[in-house]
Amino acid sequence: MKVSFSELSLPQTGSLALCVGGDGSLCALGAQLDALTQGALTRAMKVEKFSGEAQSWLSIVAPAHTDLDRVILLGTGEASILDIENAGGVLAQKAESLALREVFVALADSEQAAHFAYGAQLGGYRFDKYRTLEALKARCVLETMTVATTDAEKALQAYMPLDASAVGIALTRDLVWEPANVLTTEAFAELCQTLTPYGLEVEVIDSKQMAALGMGAMLGVGQGSMYETLMVVIKHNGGAQGQSPIAFLGKGVVFDSGGLSLKPNSSMNTMKEDMGGAGTVAGLMVTLAKRQAKVNAIGVLGLVENMPSDKAQRPSDVVTTMSGQTVEVMNTDAEGRLVLCDLLTYTQRTFKPRAMFDLATLTGAIITALGDEMSGIFSNHDELAAQVTRAGELEGELVWKMPLGDSFKRLLKSEIADMRNNGTKLGVGGSSVAAQFLHNFIENDTPWVHLDIAGTAWRSDNLPTKPKGATGFGLRLLDRLVKEQFED
Ligand code: BES
Ligand code: MN
Ligand code: ZN
Repeated sequence: MKVSFSELSLPQTGSLALCVGGDGSLCALGAQLDALTQGALTRAMKVEKFSGEAQSWLSIVAPAHTDLDRVILLGTGEASILDIENAGGVLAQKAESLALREVFVALADSEQAAHFAYGAQLGGYRFDKYRTLEALKARCVLETMTVATTDAEKALQAYMPLDASAVGIALTRDLVWEPANVLTTEAFAELCQTLTPYGLEVEVIDSKQMAALGMGAMLGVGQGSMYETLMVVIKHNGGAQGQSPIAFLGKGVVFDSGGLSLKPNSSMNTMKEDMGGAGTVAGLMVTLAKRQAKVNAIGVLGLVENMPSDKAQRPSDVVTTMSGQTVEVMNTDAEGRLVLCDLLTYTQRTFKPRAMFDLATLTGAIITALGDEMSGIFSNHDELAAQVTRAGELEGELVWKMPLGDSFKRLLKSEIADMRNNGTKLGVGGSSVAAQFLHNFIENDTPWVHLDIAGTAWRSDNLPTKPKGATGFGLRLLDRLVKEQFED
């Protein structure tokens, strides 16, 4: 969707969208239009009992005394920034049923104008690549949005970093939607290499190099796949030279069949989403580059496919991680932690980051605990965890603090190796056991945050700015965190 900002005025023709506060109040231009139409807006609101509640909408067709096709009223409730974004998202999602390709929005406040357009970008996202039937291909989408506002230049300035975020989120969503027969580990790595025009440095580390580095845990996961296990390092050098970077690590299991500990079909058929962490990291790096964030940031993606085969690792195999610690693989479906542990060691030893964030669709147990709109956060650094939590609240990406500790560590005791990869007690604290496993790989108290996004990376229903399907959860939150805590 093309977005532009113009000076505040009423259009003569076409479709116009207006925001309405939770008390049913129209903005100045809305009141002007209401007078022009001899009260058509207020009458329509009354008839339809439209109160301006957040996320509600009302379409008024061909209002008399104007040449407008439609006026669309969008409820904003308390009119927080997130409410305004949601109004934009609702409008973009209604475009199909209203046959709306072009819309004019009047929103006096320039900050709100920018966030409205951002919400519309996020809400209007669709993945239509594989629809070839005309009827589906021809579904109407919003193509052009003009937001009329008091200070168009200021709105545009506010919109630029938001556009960078929307572009990153769209990339993340595309990656997560892409099925695993197309987005293989190799295709994913190749795609990362096309990101250099953003100013990013991209390096692909192949499995030979990984073997030389001693990454036995991650390589074990990919052993059964016909595709190569790969690691991708994406660098954004926006900070002072020599400044210690922040690092983002992503679980990139392009498909998680469970391996020989095979998943039942009902839980396997969504497992193309298991690269959601890596997808978010790739998108985030694009966002940081596109908005020229003044920070040195590193994205590390662990790309691997978890498949059963005669080559696959077996339950009871012992692998040696890059850290030197050994792991007894008692369940090949607890593979995410085997990927992340080597990424953690590699990142710490190679880049000495000042803080490290990993994102992973790690455990089904986090969905049981927190549902599908909150991610679990685990950390060795309370202050950093609090900052992440706060950033999440402001961005509409909620996270909830979960525990680490010795009681979970005890569940990882192995009869043969330094630890096992799943807990000894079935169904006991699964998300914390997984996080505790990762904690075993943190060196020198490096500030570390683990986000378990198993419940939030993919949605089974619509939210205004997170349409059904891949969400890109975590990108907004981390982008804000970078801006507020780590930029020069
Ligand atoms: N990728 C899954 C976790 C998952 C579940 C992600 C649902 C998204 C939606 C992960 O690799 C997994 O299989 N975890 C197991 C761990 C268990 C075997 C210890 C789980 O959660 O059941
Ligand atoms: Mn698994
Ligand atoms: Zn998995």
